[in-house]
Amino acid sequence: MSKTPYNKLYPESFKPEDFLKEETYKHTRAAVEHALTIIPEAYTSEEFHALEQKQIFQNSWVPCAVLPEVKKPGDVKVVEVGGESIIITRNKEGELRAFYNVCRHRGVQMLDKECTAVKSARIRCPYHSWAYDLNGKCLGTPLFEGSDIPPDMQGMFDMGGVDKFTKEDYPLFDLHVDSWGMLIFIHMGENPPPLTEQLGDLPERFAPYQLEDWEIAATQQFTFDANYKLVGENFMEYYHLPWVHPELIKVSRMEDHYRYQGDGMYTGMMTWPISAGDEGGWLGLPPFSGLEADQLESAKFIWLFPCVALSVMPNHCFIMVTKPQGPHFTIEDTYVMCHPESLAAEGADKEVQQLVDFWTLVNQQDIDIVAKMHSGIRSKAYRGGRMCYHFEEPVHRYMNMVIDKMVGIERVPKGDENPDDKVSMFGSKDTSIEPPAG
Ligand code: FES
Ligand SMILES: [Fe+2]
Repeated sequence: MSKTPYNKLYPESFKPEDFLKEETYKHTRAAVEHALTIIPEAYTSEEFHALEQKQIFQNSWVPCAVLPEVKKPGDVKVVEVGGESIIITRNKEGELRAFYNVCRHRGVQMLDKECTAVKSARIRCPYHSWAYDLNGKCLGTPLFEGSDIPPDMQGMFDMGGVDKFTKEDYPLFDLHVDSWGMLIFIHMGENPPPLTEQLGDLPERFAPYQLEDWEIAATQQFTFDANYKLVGENFMEYYHLPWVHPELIKVSRMEDHYRYQGDGMYTGMMTWPISAGDEGGWLGLPPFSGLEADQLESAKFIWLFPCVALSVMPNHCFIMVTKPQGPHFTIEDTYVMCHPESLAAEGADKEVQQLVDFWTLVNQQDIDIVAKMHSGIRSKAYRGGRMCYHFEEPVHRYMNMVIDKMVGIERVPKGDENPDDKVSMFGSKDTSIEPPAG
């Protein structure tokens, strides 16, 4: 008896040099009705991962922290983006600053990832105590004011006699940093386009929520034995709800999902109305009072390219910051954030705990299924699948953003003509590229 051939959709393998070529992605470029999922190597290949760090993470505005983490001058958040350790801080003027976490002397990584603030507004290297201010300026090498060297030993450290060395030539290497809503973004490129270009219409659409004022109510870390893109793709489709999330589907019913897609490097969908009154659901905490009726009744699910999920409800926001650690493993930092008004309500602690329990349950369900998906994709028998166009148009949109960056196309995809219309989740009708036979 003959066996099913395993390589009918995609060839048996792709070479690393193929990852930067448009031709490789022909079948994911097809209209979603005919499209194949992106090549399996996008999730499993070390070489794809290395190229992706360069093409995507070092060449996009990457959301990587939230504003309350660097509220005051000298607060610090150490993040890893594109394979680099980066210090995000706030200077004395209240501006965000970002620097490579690298000392200009002998290159030591100065701050540990657990560091949340620096003393005396100085970033100090632990090796020979060179110090930098919150604008990255080199203050001393040593000797400098505030050094903890005993007075009788200071002469020994005096760099006064050194030839052709000026501290001004040795500031920290800085990066572009900006924020939108509660999120902080960094860009590792030299002259990036403004963040607003990548965000498209999101700032306008979320303006009523005043997300920049929301506070952290809870944080938690999860890990996925899977590629970070699978975590994102799982977030942006609701096809799997009935089988994976029996609890979630009570507050986010299948028939209440709509497109929420304007211009921008994001995928959006909405649940409307969110169902109230369920135990363990979303609505215990009072909503932020600045919202309109429509916003009070809806949940918005936004995947921000390349790596962050925002689930925005009238009373809280659940954020997942995914951090790829190679092709097969992802760390996810999550935040429950609320407007201070919601947090000031009586019984807020209990309601926040209920939200944390709810999201933990949903996340655990996703962790299990996404790990199974990753394992299956690593099988040599799996060479791509067909997209289910009714539900997976956002996944298709996201894969195409990934492909754009991999092949060097800088473009911000268009959204629906009237993004405020509650249109159901169907994709493009252009079917000119035929899929291969299954
Ligand atoms: S490496 Fe930082 S002070 Fe020497
Ligand atoms: Fe899920």
